[in-house]
Amino acid sequence: MRIDVLTLFVEMFESPLSYSILKRAQQQNIVKIVLSNIRDFATDSYHKVDDTPYGGGPGMVMMCQPVFDCLEHVRSQDAEPGKVVLLCPQGKPFDQQTAMELSREKRLILIAGRYEGFDERIREGLNAETVSIGDYVLSGGELPAMVVIDAVVRLLEGALGDEQSAQDESFSDGLLEYPHYTRPEDFRGTKVPPILLSGNHAKIAEWRMQQRLERTQRQRPDLWAKYLERKNVKK
Ligand code: ADE
Repeated sequence: MRIDVLTLFVEMFESPLSYSILKRAQQQNIVKIVLSNIRDFATDSYHKVDDTPYGGGPGMVMMCQPVFDCLEHVRSQDAEPGKVVLLCPQGKPFDQQTAMELSREKRLILIAGRYEGFDERIREGLNAETVSIGDYVLSGGELPAMVVIDAVVRLLEGALGDEQSAQDESFSDGLLEYPHYTRPEDFRGTKVPPILLSGNHAKIAEWRMQQRLERTQRQRPDLWAKYLERKNVKK
């Protein structure tokens, strides 16, 4: 997969992309991540990329021209046109399902904005999908773009070791993970649940599933309702 990121802050991406799974996935050519600075495509001598909103109001709006020119430039570097994803709080909520869908694309082009938002003609003109990582407002689309990259790349074949990929499927079934424990057996008086020390794998699996059901029901009624709905449809 190739992922292009169009941003005003290329440097913000460098550290998160150079550790652990994301680093290895790039080294192994599972993903190629190309960062482009939208400001390089500004045409005036101030390198202006934003302007005041028509109709008045606070803040600045990202202008069409530098974003369109930057996108056209990166598009010309690869025959695959790619799916354009615009990060903004008004977008479709990002979840594991969306991550899986995006991981099937050959190329993603993520656009991270700043200021009050994008000129609406950017979304329309680029036929972009808008994605939000949650109902809160961040200072820009960079952190959300990194979240999307991380969630997508770990789903690409070969990005994770075997052991981890098997575990990963658990969230995809819509339930939260079971609780994990490691040594020591007793930490300051709090003990590991005895079932985990029993060596009885069938009982452990049963306990873990029970924990997943209870946790999901207690902590995420929204996921729980969807889980029940899916189960009833299957019956
Ligand atoms: N830009 C600012 N806040 C955001 C959010 N919650 N999701 C995606 N992009 C954003």
